[in-house]
Amino acid sequence: MAISKVGVVGGGLMGHGIAQISAQAGWDVVLREVSDEKVDKAIGMIDKQLGRAVDKGKLEQADADAIRGRINGTTDYGELADCDLVVEAMTEDLDGKLEMWAEVDGIVKPEAVFATNTSSLPVVDQAASTSRPTQFLGLHFFNPAQVMPLLEVVRTVTTSDEALQTGFEFGEKLGKTVVSAKDKAGFIVNRLLVPYMLDAIRAYEEGFGSIEEINVAMKGGAAHPMGPLTLADFVGLDTLNSIAQVMFAEYAERRFAAPPTLRKMVA
Ligand code: CAA
Repeated sequence: MAISKVGVVGGGLMGHGIAQISAQAGWDVVLREVSDEKVDKAIGMIDKQLGRAVDKGKLEQADADAIRGRINGTTDYGELADCDLVVEAMTEDLDGKLEMWAEVDGIVKPEAVFATNTSSLPVVDQAASTSRPTQFLGLHFFNPAQVMPLLEVVRTVTTSDEALQTGFEFGEKLGKTVVSAKDKAGFIVNRLLVPYMLDAIRAYEEGFGSIEEINVAMKGGAAHPMGPLTLADFVGLDTLNSIAQVMFAEYAERRFAAPPTLRKMVA
């Protein structure tokens, strides 16, 4: 389906970035958060990124203003009613997401496509909770969404060819490299990246190196832009811990288990 308005539910680390790049691609965007304070914070992050781009001479002030003008921050689900695509970017908690979809499903026009940016939860669990499981897919972005080139487009058993096509076209118009992923917890990237970050924490626990040595070693020895422990902080230890719990529950393999240090750091 042709998209002219995009809804983003959740304006945190991922949501504000998804809202920004959607507006940059030319769509009108509704960014929904739970409180005025959180709306202001999300819009503030977008303003900061746009301001930086203007300062660096990568964006004209008029274009930054136009992008900003296309983003409507709100606490009201009602504003999502005429969106063609709604992307969920809330915290990694299935109950919270289901509660949101129960409300949004009754508000947004029936032909709209719904997507989740979940990092680890099976997409079908959310799709099946709505009245439109055929129009539901996973769109998994990477942090920072403004910079990372990849978008995993996830087809679940219920996703129609048409909805999948909408996902692919959305990603391509955003300028992303689009990869098709199966609805398996963690998809492709987190299936590989999460055990790597967890193992870096275990390597630290086992005395292979200090935090700094592990980071420096993987930056210099494997040409990664960040060391694995820096990356874990960047993803957010709370988020990493939630993903590990979901993936461990799904696969019951040690490599997905949160190491004690991670659990303690989150506490
Ligand atoms: N938001 C928006 N733009 C940002 C940004 C942010 N948070 N951080 C950096 N940028 C932009 C900068 O403005 C800069 O843009 P220009 O090139 O246009 O000037 C560009 O990114 C490079 O930034 P810097 O020069 O400041 O720093 P850098 O070269 O060290 O790059 C980085 C920063 C892009 C974050 C880089 O360190 C990197 O790629 N790190 C790895 C990130 C990664 O692996 N992300 C995936 C995490 S896993 C995930 O997200 C999935 C999940 O489900 C857990």
